[in-house]
Amino acid sequence: SKEEVSQLRTPIVCVMGHVDHGKTTLLDRIRGTTVAQYEAGAITQHIGATEIPLSVIQQFCGSGFKANLMVPGLLFIDTPGHHAFTSLRSRGGSLADLAILIVDINEGFQPQTIESINILKRFKTPFVVAANKIDRIPGWRPVENAPMEKSLAGQTERVVETLETKIYELVGELYKYGFDSNRYDRIADFTKTVGIIPVSAITGEGIPDLLLVLVGLAQRFLKQNLVIESSRPGMGTILEVKEERGLGTTLDVILYDGMISVGDTIVVGTPREPIITKVRALLKPRPLKEIRSEERFTPVKHVVAASGIKVSAPKLETALAGSTIRVVGEGEDPEAIAKEIRSEIEAVRIDTDTVGVILKADTIGSLEGLVGELRAKNIPIHVADVGPVTRRDVIRAAAIKDPLLSVILGFNVEILPDALSEIQKLDIPVFQSDVIYTLLESYEEWMEEKKM
Ligand code: GTP
Ligand code: MG
Repeated sequence: SKEEVSQLRTPIVCVMGHVDHGKTTLLDRIRGTTVAQYEAGAITQHIGATEIPLSVIQQFCGSGFKANLMVPGLLFIDTPGHHAFTSLRSRGGSLADLAILIVDINEGFQPQTIESINILKRFKTPFVVAANKIDRIPGWRPVENAPMEKSLAGQTERVVETLETKIYELVGELYKYGFDSNRYDRIADFTKTVGIIPVSAITGEGIPDLLLVLVGLAQRFLKQNLVIESSRPGMGTILEVKEERGLGTTLDVILYDGMISVGDTIVVGTPREPIITKVRALLKPRPLKEIRSEERFTPVKHVVAASGIKVSAPKLETALAGSTIRVVGEGEDPEAIAKEIRSEIEAVRIDTDTVGVILKADTIGSLEGLVGELRAKNIPIHVADVGPVTRRDVIRAAAIKDPLLSVILGFNVEILPDALSEIQKLDIPVFQSDVIYTLLESYEEWMEEKKM
């Protein structure tokens, strides 16, 4: 209903980390389902959102759960390792209220761990580190779903020592990136120190501790951000633009503020002129289900933040992943909102340096991340845009006289066929990756070689 209520909304928790470090498995374990087993090659193909109601958290934490509960649950966003999780932005910051940075304790920091850390730092998102796969420590005796204290009590001295050493290594890595950290049960002030929680996504050990720390963090430090007026016009981030049989083009959206209703006028970001259209249907996955594996959505009339929702509306074909969807409130001018959204996108798409690299990315968020990283390295940018590499990009790169800058950097984008033949003809170096860190590293290595 549209009545004026102010309540704490569900905090959005983003699960980040390197490929295969266990993001999906951890969420599966919490959900008690096995989505990962049904994924092609066990690799997450799409971004999904999962709402974990408080009852499930309580069930997991059992008698350990003494916190005074005010949030309705936690909304977890699982970002596929092979995708631009940088698209998880909202106006002026990260979409996530909190994040879990998953690190395979046996592998330590890897390229996407570093990429995740840099994003969390840039957006000042509070996070905890889940030191995953503790069950792989030689000699580990699993205690199904046990809180850490209980689990540790059952381990040999040697195992506990190995765990400590590995946690120390993580503390050292985090320090390199400017974060003080410690094992979570040794932390007095979570605003100053990042908590490291040893977990196993397979045995469930440490998950009660992880959930408790998250709920505690959300309630203690985010209360201000979590108060919503549910009657406020909805605001969301587009995670994916998808064709659905019988529905046409739809948007997978994370609504992070306010409310959206069927029939609402909405403004949706595109690479160019925002779309103004009307919500035809809102499709909500049931709690405990993944948006991506849910065959039958439940149609609903209204949705209140925070929520992962599929939006069906006419004219969505050109919608841009990572950009904004905004409900037009009563008395508001859709054109004015369109202008705002357009300027958000324009602010990222720069075309200022007369000499610089050509940068193409798959989403507005990943583009923003790359522009930030390149600027920090004093690498000038001639073109920064969303979309595939086109023939025009190649011609613009060729026009750059500095051989070190006459290049194309592509983040998770295609090269169109006519661009490809032009690249070969004009001999333009192209760097491509779906990891920001790797993309920049390969370009920088190439530059070093060229300079010699
Ligand atoms: P991407 O989505 O591809 O980035 O990977 P992910 O981070 O979601 O990793 P995923 O959950 O798919 O796990 C990768 C592999 O590690 C799978 O084979 C899991 O079974 C395994 N795995 C995950 N967590 C654990 C754990 O705690 N212990 C053990 N032994 N294996 C784990
Ligand atoms: Mg995954």
